[in-house]
Amino acid sequence: MNDSSRSSRWPATAIAACLHVTTETANLMRTLKAGGADVVLCASNPLSTQDDVAAALVEEYDISCFAIKGEDHDTYYSHIEAAVDHKPHFTMDDGADVIGVLHSARREQLGDVIAGTEETTTGVIRLKALELEGKLGFPIIAVNEALTKHMFDNRYGTGQSTIDGIIRATNVLARGQRSSSSVATAGSAVVSRPAHAAWARHVIITEVDPMKALEAGHGRLRGHDDGESRQDRRDLLHRHR
Ligand SMILES: NC(=O)c1ccc[n+]([C@@H]2O[C@H](COP(=O)([O-])OP(=O)(O)OC[C@H]3O[C@@H](n4cnc5c(N)ncnc54)[C@H](O)[C@@H]3O)[C@@H](O)[C@H]2O)c1
Repeated sequence: MNDSSRSSRWPATAIAACLHVTTETANLMRTLKAGGADVVLCASNPLSTQDDVAAALVEEYDISCFAIKGEDHDTYYSHIEAAVDHKPHFTMDDGADVIGVLHSARREQLGDVIAGTEETTTGVIRLKALELEGKLGFPIIAVNEALTKHMFDNRYGTGQSTIDGIIRATNVLARGQRSSSSVATAGSAVVSRPAHAAWARHVIITEVDPMKALEAGHGRLRGHDDGESRQDRRDLLHRHR
């Protein structure tokens, strides 16, 4: 079946995605479009936007993309509004910003949305709060709750980005730091553990969850030569059971 006969039989499903505007996301958008969806993309984080990717989506693939690297607060939210203007049947979020606008300024559109996905820890926390208040307007797949996302993407993918971010922000040479450095983190987040392992001789963690605080203190989260802490391995085994 060619594209024109498909679109004449079924109206296109509108999808508003608010994700990191990178090559990986661009290929997801191309795939959704090839499957018949009418997609728009905006950025979930202005600092990760790849401007050449945003331009290629518009110029080469005819996919609307609202994102500029380093965009300011007002531009960021005007881009989310533009994605919501698309009248989505499905949403895809990384931080719950599209869902947030739909539940505040655009409540009249809530009934048109069939379902959505939420990628990250922070977004899932925001959505669970909405659900507890009985205010969640449509069902959401909490992608972050998939063990393959939380345990691998957060721990190793974002975990590596955390180290990269610290190096870029401070311009320090990692080699030799472990013998003298202290690392302090708010929360015993899995995304911070590779940074503990890479640098930490002294680890200071503030934690609101008493069991996680106990676990972090007990395991000491100390690094090993292969860059992975013993505590990481113990968590991995424990959560698999
Ligand atoms: N930029 C990205 O690509 C990306 C990817 C993954 C995760 N993240 C973000 O990284 C952060 C951590 O994610 P994670 O999956 O590692 O989280 P996690 O659930 O493993 O850990 C978060 C910890 O913080 C603790 N905490 C919550 N409030 C606190 C407070 N006020 N003081 C001290 N501790 C507190 C929680 O009890 C929990 O143990 C989140 O904000 C998440 O959205 C970003």
